Amino acid sequence: MAAPELREIEELRRLLRHHEHRYYVLDQPEISDAEYDALMRQLAELERKHPESVTPDSPTQRVGGAPREGFVQAPHSSPMLSLDNALDEVELRDFDRRVRDLLGHDGYRYTAELKLDGLSLALRYRDGVLQRAITRGDGETGEDVTENARTIRSIPLRVIDGPAEFEVRGEVIMTKKAFERLNAGREPDQRYANPRNSAAGSLRVLDSTITAARQLDFYAYLLMAGGEAMFDSQWQSLDRLSGMGFKVNVERKLCHGMEELVEFTRSWEPRREDLPYEIDGVVAKVDSVAQQRQLGWTAKAPRWAVAYKYAAEQAETVVESIEVQVGRTGTLTPVAQLHPVRVGGVTVSRATLHNEDEIRRLGLAVGDTVIIERSGDVIPKVVRVSGEGEGRKEFRIPSSCPVCSEPVVRAEGEVASRCVNPDCPARLKESILHFASRGVMDIDGMGEALVDQLVARGMVKSIADLYQLKAEQLAELERMGEKSAARIMKGIEASLGKPMPRVLNGLGIPFVGERTAQLLAEHFGSLHAIAEAAEEALQEAEEVGPKVSQSIQGFFRAPHNLQLVERLREAGLQFTHEIKRKQAGPLAGLTFVITGTLPGMSRDEAKELIEATGGKATNSVSKKTSYLVAGEEAGSKLEKAQALGIPVIDEAKLRELAGA
Ligand code: IVH
Repeated sequence: MAAPELREIEELRRLLRHHEHRYYVLDQPEISDAEYDALMRQLAELERKHPESVTPDSPTQRVGGAPREGFVQAPHSSPMLSLDNALDEVELRDFDRRVRDLLGHDGYRYTAELKLDGLSLALRYRDGVLQRAITRGDGETGEDVTENARTIRSIPLRVIDGPAEFEVRGEVIMTKKAFERLNAGREPDQRYANPRNSAAGSLRVLDSTITAARQLDFYAYLLMAGGEAMFDSQWQSLDRLSGMGFKVNVERKLCHGMEELVEFTRSWEPRREDLPYEIDGVVAKVDSVAQQRQLGWTAKAPRWAVAYKYAAEQAETVVESIEVQVGRTGTLTPVAQLHPVRVGGVTVSRATLHNEDEIRRLGLAVGDTVIIERSGDVIPKVVRVSGEGEGRKEFRIPSSCPVCSEPVVRAEGEVASRCVNPDCPARLKESILHFASRGVMDIDGMGEALVDQLVARGMVKSIADLYQLKAEQLAELERMGEKSAARIMKGIEASLGKPMPRVLNGLGIPFVGERTAQLLAEHFGSLHAIAEAAEEALQEAEEVGPKVSQSIQGFFRAPHNLQLVERLREAGLQFTHEIKRKQAGPLAGLTFVITGTLPGMSRDEAKELIEATGGKATNSVSKKTSYLVAGEEAGSKLEKAQALGIPVIDEAKLRELAGA
């Protein structure tokens, strides 16, 4: 390639990185969005002409290629532990006393940071370039979500300057604004409960274009190399992280002594509502790394840090009535209708009561005054009755469905009552909304108002009837015209091309959501194979246990469901899924668990060997484990493997199997 053009490409990348940092990290853009887009187009154009110049850290490379089949498990460089909690000031002072006693003096300081309510993520960089992003998982092993993390604009793909190899840990969050935008476009039964869940859901989707659209954010809070802190103090690390181009929360304080820390936690509690993101407390860390080492760790958490948790926001109001909702699977859920009240920055007028037992436990009757609580969720819960109302009315779950009047059933050992009438309009409506929703069949415009009419007029008695609808019929409905009718018909037509895992998810089988549907499709290759699989066969698929397999069998045993599936096949929906060849190698199809100390290799090396030769390494022993690789001082995993009759091998045998 001509040298001037290469220089131009490099210059554009440098400029774009600079402006991304200004915009996404510092929130201080220097140019307009249009100017930024123009630079990006210029770079993309040049890269198209010189594809050999494209590197993974180029600003054009945030969104990758086709959706993946599943996530790969990845071991952490050092365990991602959690923090001990302090639930009030007394516990916070207890923590401080322990620190003082263990150090034997009071010459220490705390960094106080806001505790963002998201999910933690570890980022590994080599030679300044992002290599891998791994979720916390069980703390030892997480999921490799690199492709998705690359779409988060506040995560630098290349850092400005830093050491050859390092790891950054921090929190992935969704801002309150992005969360509202996301939920506003969703049907009620598809809404996320809170920004934390939606951040987690958005990071763990198989299609990175979805993550990109969700506009997640990342705040860094730990910097390490070789499993150790890189600087003498946490405060310095935070400054350094910021200098390297990471987003670091500016709301932090270096506290000289306990009183300053208490003052910091107190000052943020009433102001948390005004922040653009949700926090659930403050994290205090002993600032000096030398002192951190002196204090050390327990099995679960560092002794040098504590999470001071704010109490959930509460309010008092009156229960005006109790409504019963019928969900997609027929579950009857009592919902308290409240006199509107503000709590945690939002006005609420409803609270879920879960089921009849919960109402009895609370001793709640209509007319009572109650304390409600928002613990991060949009839908609050009733904590307790604070005053009995006059003429209070006891509530009972109705013995017949409030929508179709058919008798309801409460199975033995279950807390929920269910309407089991497959033709119940309420169930039907919820199933259609789920089937048509974004991420499932994507039938644009198929919202509550339309579905209500379709069901009320008897035009749709089953999901399969959607494929019999005519544009003329739709155009006659209220608030519909030819244009909207045509748009919906187009959506229905296009749904025929949606991949099989979405069809499976769309059936609304309890416990079979997006991820499980994807994994089942991967394993079985066709919907019919799943429908006909025995329970043990179902459980051979990843992440499928007895609860899921029973639910699947229950679904495909019911004649009306078989009829539905048959009609969907006739309509032309996708029923097969191409099974990608599993990674080849001598260990293909085998699952290993490693325990104890191996004589000639570290655990990470053993995992790498297994994965490189086609096998899978997981953390816990189950029926699906092919071999347990045991070294010295193997503990409970060995016992479990022996109890389950799983072959136990040593390092030499592993090497032999792997052909190493
Ligand atoms: S430090 C060993 N700092 O809170 C240190 N955690 O309850 C581990 N979190 O898993 C974490 N903001 O997901 C740290 N400024 C902050 C944090 C923070 C949020 C989360 C993180 C962690 C959990 C611990």
